[in-house]
Amino acid sequence: MKLSTIILAAGEGTRMKSDLPKVLHAVNGKPMLRYAIDAACAAGSQRTVVVIGNGAEKVREVIGNSVEFVVQEKRLGTGHAVLTAASTFSGQDGLILVITGDMPLLTAGTLKSLVNKQLENNGPMTMTTVYSRDPRGFGRIIRGEDGGVLAIVEEAQANPEQLKINELNVSAYCFNAEWLWQAIKKVKVSPKGEYYLTDVVEIAVNEGKHVSALVLDDEEETIGINNRVQLAQAEEIIRRRTNQAYMLAGVTMINPDTVYIEEGVKIGRDTVLLPNTFLSGKTVIGEKCEIGPNTIIRDSTIGNHCHLLASVIEGAIVEDEVGMGPFCHLRKGAHLGRGVHMGNFGEVKDSHLAAGVKMGHFSYIGNATIGENVNIGAGTITCNYDGVHKHPTEIGADTFIGSDTMLVAPLKIGKGAKTGAGSVVTHDVADHEVVVGVPARPLKKKES
Ligand code: UD1
Ligand code: CA
Repeated sequence: MKLSTIILAAGEGTRMKSDLPKVLHAVNGKPMLRYAIDAACAAGSQRTVVVIGNGAEKVREVIGNSVEFVVQEKRLGTGHAVLTAASTFSGQDGLILVITGDMPLLTAGTLKSLVNKQLENNGPMTMTTVYSRDPRGFGRIIRGEDGGVLAIVEEAQANPEQLKINELNVSAYCFNAEWLWQAIKKVKVSPKGEYYLTDVVEIAVNEGKHVSALVLDDEEETIGINNRVQLAQAEEIIRRRTNQAYMLAGVTMINPDTVYIEEGVKIGRDTVLLPNTFLSGKTVIGEKCEIGPNTIIRDSTIGNHCHLLASVIEGAIVEDEVGMGPFCHLRKGAHLGRGVHMGNFGEVKDSHLAAGVKMGHFSYIGNATIGENVNIGAGTITCNYDGVHKHPTEIGADTFIGSDTMLVAPLKIGKGAKTGAGSVVTHDVADHEVVVGVPARPLKKKES
C-alpha cells in the first residue's frame, strides 16, 4: 500500500509575533514542523509534501531536502492548500495523510491508527476527532442519528446549537488518494473567502459515502500551537514524555521537571541526572554517572562512572571515572582520559589530557597534549595564542607543573619534569629537568 503525507504549513502564524515562521519554532530543541515530518515517516509514509507559504525560503533552508515542498502563493484556506499539493501527486493512488505543521504532540501511533481505520473503511476518508470542554476555535463534528459523521462546521459558521457540540475536528485525516484528488476540486469558497478542507466531509456524505472517525482519548495530543503560551505547554508535555522514556530505561532524575534532554541523546543505566541538567545534540552518556546539578552537555561523549558538577561541556570526549567541577568548561576538541580530575574553574579546549591528570584549580589548557598523571598546579595557563596563530604545548607523563606557571607555546616539556611556582616557561624543558623563574631556567643543583 502506498502512503503519502501532505503537511499544511503555509499559515501566517501571526499570533506568534515572530520573525521566524511559526513551524520553525523549536519544541525541545526541534522545529515544530519536524515533529509532523517524523511522525508521518514513523507511521510508514513514503513521501511527504509540505505546503509552505509564509517564510517559505527559511523553512526550506532549515528542513532541507528530506521532504518535498510546494508553495501556496495565496493563503486561500486548508482546502486550497491541499489542492496546491495535489498537483505534485499527478493522480497517484494509495492513501494520503493530511496533517498540520503546528501539532507537534500528535504521535506516530495515532497516525498509524488513523491509517488502519481508513484501511478498514469502505468510504473515502477517516478523520480524527476529540471530545473537549474547551473548543479552542476548532471545527465542530456533526453526526447523524446512526452516529455517522455528516459534516464539520467551522466555528465562524456554526449556529448556537452547533457551538455547544464538544466533539472537535483535530485536523488529521487519511484519504483514499484518487477520491481526494477529485473531491478537493469541488470545494466551494466559504463566506469567509476561504476554501475549507473540512467541506470534503459533506461532499463524501452527499455522494452517499461513509466518513469514518478516529476518536482520540488523549486531548493533549491535539494541542495546536498558535502562540508562545501554547508553545511552552507543548514544550512541557514533550519534556515529560521524553524524560519518562529515559526513566523507564533506567535513568534516575530526582526532579524530572528540571531536566532537559533533546531527542537522540543516549544515556546509560543507573546514571543520575540532578536538577538543571541540559543534554543536547549528539550527546552520549555512559552508565552510573552523576550529572549536575547545573550542568550543560552538548554534542559530547561521556564514559561510565563520571561525576560532572555544575559544568559546561561542548564537543568534548570524557572517558570513564572523570570527576569535574564545579564550574569547568570543556570546549570543542577537549578529550579527558580515564580518571582525570578537574576541580573548579578549569577550561580545556582542543587538548588531550591523558589518564590520571589532575588539574585542580583555575587553569586554561588549549592546544595541548598532556601525558599521564601530570599535576597541573593552580592557575596554570597555556599561552597558546600569540595574537595571530595558535601554538601547541606538549607535556610528558608524570610532570609537575607548579602553581601559576605560564607555558608559552610552542613548548615541549619532558617526562617527570618540574616547573616552579610563578615560572614563565618560554623554552623547551628536558626530561626530569626542573625550571624556575621568569623566564624559566634550569634550577642549578646545589653543590654538596
Ligand atoms: C482547521 C480546521 C478546523 C480544525 C482546526 C484544528 C479547516 C477549514 N478548519 O482550522 O476544523 O478544528 O484546523 O486545528 O480546515 N494552512 C495552509 N494554507 C492556508 C490555510 C492554512 O497551509 O491557506 C495551514 C496552516 O498553516 C495550519 C493549518 O493549515 O498549519 C490549519 O490552518 P488554520 O488556519 O490554523 O485552520 P483553523 O482555523 O485552525
Ligand atoms: Ca489552527
